[in-house]
This record gives sequence, structure tokens and C-alpha cells, in this order.
Amino acid sequence: MPASTPSQEIIRLEHIGLQYSDDRFIFFDVNFSVFAGDFYFLTGKSGVGKTSFLKILYKAVHPSLGHVHVFGYNLSALSRSELPVFRQHVGLIFQDCRLIPTLSIVDNVALSIHIGGSQYRRSCSYAKELLDWVGLGECLNSHPDALSDGQKQRVAIARAVVKRPALLLADEPTGNLDDENAFRLMALFEELHRMGTTVLLATHNNELVKSFAYPKLILREGSLLLSDNGFSTRKSEKVQ
Ligand SMILES: Nc1ncnc2c1ncn2[C@@H]1O[C@H](COP(=O)(O)OP(=O)(O)OP(=O)(O)O)[C@@H](O)[C@H]1O
Ligand SMILES: [Mg+2]
Repeated sequence: MPASTPSQEIIRLEHIGLQYSDDRFIFFDVNFSVFAGDFYFLTGKSGVGKTSFLKILYKAVHPSLGHVHVFGYNLSALSRSELPVFRQHVGLIFQDCRLIPTLSIVDNVALSIHIGGSQYRRSCSYAKELLDWVGLGECLNSHPDALSDGQKQRVAIARAVVKRPALLLADEPTGNLDDENAFRLMALFEELHRMGTTVLLATHNNELVKSFAYPKLILREGSLLLSDNGFSTRKSEKVQ
């Protein structure tokens, strides 16, 4: 799958609509492409559909209308047996972390690359290095229950980035962190991006968004809008 080259289309959304109930569309007729090496913030008010939008991209939710292609795969045609291989190339940071409670944090992170084929000892060594970098080197053998929400979030981030995914989908990855940690973790996403990962990062943190020259995708009233995030004179436009 994804030995991506610049200008390669990583995500293609065609006429995407999502309804959870008959009376309302969360979004409607969204058309957009993300190319290899892009970095977007995904913003919009609480409840507007950011998490749902990301879920469509890793096939946790099926759109009610339209087609989604990721790495050239039509997700609606992707079989259950193909899904783990597809997801091996996608780094996921969930809004609610979703760590495995019965595993130590080092194993939570190591498992992410171990199931991709890396030897267990090597996986642990990468995992320890990264957990140390995110400031959790002192509690490698702790279990998730013993951590604060911000610490859990840092483990979830380490787990997503350790496998150097071709695509990172991050849902409020800094929502539980103080500004210092949020900016430190943002440096990690930037490093991953420099190494070739395409990034979509959903966030409420306006300070973070304003501080980085990445364009914004804004979900508003069922539409997806593109904004240059104030770093050029171009006005926001509806995504075609
Ligand atoms: N599984 C579901 N079944 C029914 N409705 C849902 C489901 N998941 C989300 N919704 C609704 O869809 C809308 C969008 O939810 P979503 O979680 O995608 O928003 P969000 O932008 O991520 O919000 P937040 O910023 O608070 O995380 C909300 O009105 C929510 O109640
Ligand atoms: Mg959300």
C-alpha cells in the first residue's frame, strides 16, 4: 500500500453525506482531496461532526451518501479481512484515548508496531524511547488506570506515531494537555509530517491553530470549508 509520493491523492471524498437519523444530515455533499504530505487542522464547534468525519476515514462509520477512497481503496468495498492491513498504515488518536487497560503503557505502545511485524524487543525499545520523549519514561510499567487523562493522551499519541503511519488522524490529541505539553506534542506531529506523514488534526485549541501555518478545514452547518488559516490573503472558500 502506501509508499506515498508527493501529489499522490491519499484521501478522496466524493459527495459525502452523513446522517445518524432521518431528520438531519451531519454533513452533506462534501467533496475534498487530501494529498501526500498535506497537514490540515480540522475545526468546528462541538457536536458539528469532526469525530464522525475522521471515523469515516478509517471506516468506523459508513457515510450515508457518497464514496470515500483512502490510499486508493474504496472503503465501502474494503472487506473485514482487509481492514487491519489498511489500518496498519493509519495512526489513530482517539478523543477518548482507548488504551488497553490490561497492558502496561509500554506494551500499549509497543503492540502497535509489534502487530505490524516488528520483533517484540525492538518494539519495546522504540516504545520506551518515545514514551520517554513525551515525558512518561518514569511510568513505563504503569497501567492506564494509574495515569491522569493528560498522561493517557500522551500514551495514545505515542502509540499512534510510533509506527510512522502514512496517514495520521488525530482527534483532539491535545484536549487534556496544558499549553506547554500541547506545543511539545505538536512538535512531534510536525516531525512526523516532515518524515512524510499526511496529517489531519481535529482540535478546539485556537492558540495551537493560530500558531502554525497549516490550513484549516472547518465543519460548519453541514459543509466543509477550507481556510488558509490567515497565513495568506486568500479568503475561506467552500471545498469543491
Ligand atoms: N453513533 C452516533 N449515533 C447517533 N448520533 C451520533 C453518533 N455519533 C455522533 N452523533 C451525533 O453527531 C453529531 C456530531 O458528533 P461528533 O462527535 O462527530 O462531533 P464533534 O465535532 O466531534 O464534537 P466534539 O467537538 O464535542 O468532539 C452530534 O450531534 C452527535 O450527537
Ligand atoms: Mg469529537
